[in-house]
Amino acid sequence: APPEEPQLSSFIRTIPDFPVPGIQFRDVTTLFQDARAFRRAVDGLSAPFADRGLEVIAAMDARGFILGGAMAYALGLPFVPIRKKGKLPGTTLMESYTLEYGEASVEIHEDAFAAGARVLLIDDLIATGGTAIAGVRLIERLGGELVAAGFVVDLPDLGGRRKLEAMGVETHVLMA
Ligand code: PRP
Ligand code: HPA
Repeated sequence: APPEEPQLSSFIRTIPDFPVPGIQFRDVTTLFQDARAFRRAVDGLSAPFADRGLEVIAAMDARGFILGGAMAYALGLPFVPIRKKGKLPGTTLMESYTLEYGEASVEIHEDAFAAGARVLLIDDLIATGGTAIAGVRLIERLGGELVAAGFVVDLPDLGGRRKLEAMGVETHVLMA
């Protein structure tokens, strides 16, 4: 970014004790609310993949959709939602996982993309990695070729990025 642009991290605020006591919640809505910061985030997540033969953008419910949808539009690629359980109407595959403040299950449509498709997985933030790993499993169960995973925010103390990389997933983050 040009030197007059504030650091992207300055657009993320931390809210204590949300959604439960003890969690320091990184709030990305303040980044999305700033048009230039939002565009920088979308472009920054897209930049490493200019020549990587991406065929599909998959993103995690719900904040991943905001970024992944914008990326798919900008790159001219199809968008595949990985949704919280019970939301997708067609036949799905499901993965369950634990996260920093609870448990969840996510689903993907079984016909979301063809086997062998080159898929980029996007979410706003990686903490424990539970969500992203569930997404990776779903993509792999459908026979997708996972090119990489991209996040705006990494919370390195929670170890998710290390876990993903230990699984052999190329991982990109805009700030830690
Ligand atoms: C948050 C965040 C990531 C995930 C990261 O979503 O947007 O998807 O948690 O945590 P993890 O790395 O420990 O799994 P959340 O489950 O709160 O859902 P939401 O986007 O629907 O609010
Ligand atoms: N912010 C947003 N989502 C999250 C966080 C956070 O701090 N931790 C786990 N998921």
